[in-house]
Amino acid sequence: MSIKGFRGELVSLSHDPVEAPYAVRHEADGLLVVEAGHVVARGPYAAVAPRFPGLMVEHLPGLVVPGFIDAHVHYPQLGRIASHGAQLLDWLERHIFPAEKAFADPVHAAAVTEEFLDELLRHGTTSALVFGTVHAASVEAFFAAAEARQLRMICGKVLMDLGPEGLRDTVKEARSESEALIAKWHGRGRLGYAVTPRYALTSTDEQLALAGELLAAYPGVLLHTHLAENTREIAEVAARFTEAVDYLDAYDRFGLVTDRSVFAHGVHLPDRSCARLAETGAGIAVCPSSNFFLGSGMFDFAQAERHGVRLGLGSDIGAGTSLSLLHNGGLAYQAGLPKGYVLDPFRALWLATGGSARLLHIDGEVGMLAEGQEADFVVLDDAATPLMARRTAGASLAERLFALQVLGDDRAVRRTYVLGRCVWDREARHGRA
Ligand code: GUN
Ligand code: ZN
Repeated sequence: MSIKGFRGELVSLSHDPVEAPYAVRHEADGLLVVEAGHVVARGPYAAVAPRFPGLMVEHLPGLVVPGFIDAHVHYPQLGRIASHGAQLLDWLERHIFPAEKAFADPVHAAAVTEEFLDELLRHGTTSALVFGTVHAASVEAFFAAAEARQLRMICGKVLMDLGPEGLRDTVKEARSESEALIAKWHGRGRLGYAVTPRYALTSTDEQLALAGELLAAYPGVLLHTHLAENTREIAEVAARFTEAVDYLDAYDRFGLVTDRSVFAHGVHLPDRSCARLAETGAGIAVCPSSNFFLGSGMFDFAQAERHGVRLGLGSDIGAGTSLSLLHNGGLAYQAGLPKGYVLDPFRALWLATGGSARLLHIDGEVGMLAEGQEADFVVLDDAATPLMARRTAGASLAERLFALQVLGDDRAVRRTYVLGRCVWDREARHGRA
């Protein structure tokens, strides 16, 4: 078995810093020892190196953090990023649904998947919870490519029997295709499955009930959908689900609110919903760049913290404007301020790594760069631009992280490693070492 050391400045979080003090783990001169793709030792270089005589050591030039984990992203929307002129419901009709229709073609799906995975790795993202389209072929293509690259990824076929013409399944197809995909891909290597009803408005009651059945029948499978993103969407949900006390309750009535449920956005939530999320262990993928871009609103971090709601960070491409979870962390800070919430840069890093990992139930494997975890990590350059170099020279770790989040993006990702193997090197400008 190959064993290798990586020497550099290591930073990660073992817990949500609002829940536990001493959550930050930082070695200014650290050593990470990786064997067969897993971290077998980590600590100050001077303490760890003597335990591994003759170890081959690679120097990592920059701040080394766990690979980022995107808790909500749509790979088929990559080409529709920056589509102009509309809030959520009109944006879906005008820009997104037409683009998603093309994913009935497996060749197109495979090509976009490769571009998407290249982009993720270039942005330092090594794991994600990903929407496919309504076509099973879109998910097949995604899993096959993620498996070939040995990435830890979760994906699901979109359920939408009330979708537009050409993008609509039936309850029967939804069941048989989801079951076949789960049987083939869930738990295979580093892959996992998420039952993925698009949102409450694009599924019949029968299909939402089916989603609940699938979630109950397959242990370890996630539920992935959208929740309370946009005010018009929320009004339409209230008009249809007249029995439900709020948007979350419309899902709850079908068994969709569990500790394996990941809801994107949650921008406009009543306290009752937050309490219910916390009680069940369900969580929110916060998507700041998307929420700014579509004019959806700003996530209420203080409310979520009061209730103890689990959070991760999502890019929500194509509504999001950047795949960078650094950049989305900086925007999360800006979303918090108007409501008086000051997001700490370490907590922003937590949301993009361990927080998302916990939300996706992969925190045993990734997100903390801890002993026993898989060796997915990123080397960040806090002097990636002249302005960043100026701002971070001589600065504290917190200031450097904050500058990376506010000023940084893919330019600040020097290298990305998956299972201890370099898959992106900015200087060499190539992927797949
Ligand atoms: N709600 C339902 N579908 C979508 C989607 O594709 N993107 C976003 N941001 N919200 C949604
Ligand atoms: Zn989304």
